[in-house]
Amino acid sequence: MRFLFVPALLICAGISHAQTLKSLAQSRGIYVGAAASGVTNATYDTTLNREFNGIVCENAMKFGSIMTGENAFSYSGADAIVNFGVARGMYVRGHNFIWHKQMPGWFSGTTYVPSRDSTFRMMKKYINNVMAHYRGKINEWDIVNEAVARDSSGMRLGSGYSDASQNSKWAALTDAPNHNFDYIDSAFAYARRADSNVLLIYNDYDCEGMGKKSNYVYNIVAGLKNKGLVDGIGLQCHFYVGPSTSGSNGAWVPAEMVSNFQRLAALGLRISLTEVDMRIQTNPAPDSALLAKQREGYKTLMGICLAQPACKAFFTWGVNDSQSWIPGAFSGYGQALLFDNTSANGVYNRKAVYYGVQEALTATSIWGHKTNLKIIADDHQSHRFDLRGRLVTALPYNPIFVTKKTVNPK
Ligand code: XIL
Repeated sequence: MRFLFVPALLICAGISHAQTLKSLAQSRGIYVGAAASGVTNATYDTTLNREFNGIVCENAMKFGSIMTGENAFSYSGADAIVNFGVARGMYVRGHNFIWHKQMPGWFSGTTYVPSRDSTFRMMKKYINNVMAHYRGKINEWDIVNEAVARDSSGMRLGSGYSDASQNSKWAALTDAPNHNFDYIDSAFAYARRADSNVLLIYNDYDCEGMGKKSNYVYNIVAGLKNKGLVDGIGLQCHFYVGPSTSGSNGAWVPAEMVSNFQRLAALGLRISLTEVDMRIQTNPAPDSALLAKQREGYKTLMGICLAQPACKAFFTWGVNDSQSWIPGAFSGYGQALLFDNTSANGVYNRKAVYYGVQEALTATSIWGHKTNLKIIADDHQSHRFDLRGRLVTALPYNPIFVTKKTVNPK
């Protein structure tokens, strides 16, 4: 079905096969990236390199992967992915520092329970070490990930040390509810001091549209922005496409996203869509109506990003379906990414959703909003201030308009 449909569509839209997502994104001034689980598979690497101008480690840069002991760091997994991106002039995201999940064994559980002060010292050592290691290679960092509870009941309070819904061990160790959640501010302040040339991001999910959780997230980033500690917001966008658009988990309403993007942009923040995937039910197999809806979903999301000048990045959480986290995390769901598991000429085959994204990238409006506003150089560094209020110097690179980043010698 797809193979009959696609060539006709391409001819109508005047899109040539040579126009990869990367080349279209470049002409629109945005970064289209993917989370990489590794860079050791030729088909995977070729697809990444041909289609994407951005990259992020899916797991290799998380606390549990990188800080293997209280004084031990292991960088090889993340280095391979970061260096792959740097060598190809990609926009590199760092993911992530302070999160309640995927913590190292020495930190998690009830054995390691330092004082509030020692926790801050450890957090600082962790952030300083990792940021120094990647200085000059990373464009934007997720400093705090998912500090608001899943059920929208408010902040993760740290009533325990597990990674259950309302918990965060970081919140627990720093007695967050009694200290105005200063672990969040502190993490950002340590990061700003460790590397004032990189964009600092607060990243979360289920806060893309308007609602209770998105209000909490808005308040967090508004507070951080006031203190000069944050440059952007990461909206994960793990979406669900099904018969209904309502529901608690992954539901999203496009018009609400437009409003939320507007209020976030009005704070002076840039917006990155950091972990886009759109899962569908795979058993029973999706019918053509569902696949068409998913295609429309991807197209709409890219259109919303293009219509908002502050939205600079559209990263999918993986390259192709077989490597996606969705089937493992949401039983019975999958097929959430842009490429399937078959390949031709050394690259994975594009799915219908790919052409949805491609269509959005070539369109000039969505719902009457112009989306062709962005063919300007990325000015993302020009309004950033350090903790003393000094204007931060622009980075000497822009991966889109200059071919190679300058990497500071170590
Ligand atoms: C997921 C990875 O994709 C999985 O491989 C891993 O087992 C669990 O974490 N929000 C995030 C990401 O910020 O880091 C998560 O990644 C998905 C949800």
